[in-house]
Amino acid sequence: MINMTAKIEIRRANKLFDTGGRRIAALENVDLDIRANEFVTLVGASGCGKSTLLRSIGGLEDLSSGEIRVDGRPVSGPGAERAMVFQHYSLYPWLTVRENIRFCRALKIKREEITSADVEIASGRTDALIGLMGLGPVENAYPNQLSGGMQQRVAIARALMNRPGILLMDEPFGALDAQTREVMHDLILHVFALEKPTIVFVTHDVEEAIYLGDRVVLMAPRPGRIDSIYEVPLPPEREQDMKLSPEFTELKREILSRIRATSGMQTDRGMLEKLTATVRPGTAA
Ligand SMILES: Nc1ncnc2c1ncn2[C@@H]1O[C@H](COP(=O)(O)OP(=O)(O)OP(=O)(O)O)[C@@H](O)[C@H]1O
Ligand SMILES: [Mg+2]
Repeated sequence: MINMTAKIEIRRANKLFDTGGRRIAALENVDLDIRANEFVTLVGASGCGKSTLLRSIGGLEDLSSGEIRVDGRPVSGPGAERAMVFQHYSLYPWLTVRENIRFCRALKIKREEITSADVEIASGRTDALIGLMGLGPVENAYPNQLSGGMQQRVAIARALMNRPGILLMDEPFGALDAQTREVMHDLILHVFALEKPTIVFVTHDVEEAIYLGDRVVLMAPRPGRIDSIYEVPLPPEREQDMKLSPEFTELKREILSRIRATSGMQTDRGMLEKLTATVRPGTAA
């Protein structure tokens, strides 16, 4: 049934890749509705189509069949209302923090049409984002002078510059150490509460997926598909201590075991056992 209140509607999405005669079903019959101001996290074994699904919502990838609608309109390419943040910060190294954040705004308006009002509006928003992301002390620094966590804050601020309704994030904290990642989690939840975007967030980290998500969507590979969807049984205001709660640890255990079951890791373990058996002392010829 079509859900009229969905912000993002994914209907029987299929994506086939043809690589040198080999056909890969990156997505097979994916159906999903995402509500406005919902935080959905996508997890699943490597190669299960998480990035392909995210990129398709972002309009960076065309589906082979099926449809994705945003606010009721079919996605046919990228749009300013859907901002993307990737694992690698992709900042402009020759621009300062402040200039990086403002950059996409400046690009959108033809230079000769810029009025001083536009400039004021843009710098007001830039100031607000610099404050929100705690970038004040480094606003005139260049990306290579910043830590990874700081660079990712700049990338997020830049993604928020045009007030996107949808934030699409592909393992944005994957390159950060565990402590920095925790700080970033609370920061992104703060942004989420304040700016009220809809967020689709891809991660390998099940704990991250549960801590951030209203729902965790688990995908499985070969073919890439949705395996199961979990409602996160935690209050909307998250606190790090909740990771120790029985609900949290139980859900984490359940999702991890499901990922293992759908990933083909059992076979890998079998192979590993064979491999170790052949080198175990006493078994060698
Ligand atoms: N441009 C491409 N050309 C050919 N095959 C591709 C392409 N992009 C993705 N694939 C294949 O589609 C499948 C899904 O890839 P995708 O990158 O979406 O997986 P993923 O879940 O994001 O994996 P990971 O967790 O490793 O990032 C994989 O088998 C991958 O090899
Ligand atoms: Mg990926």
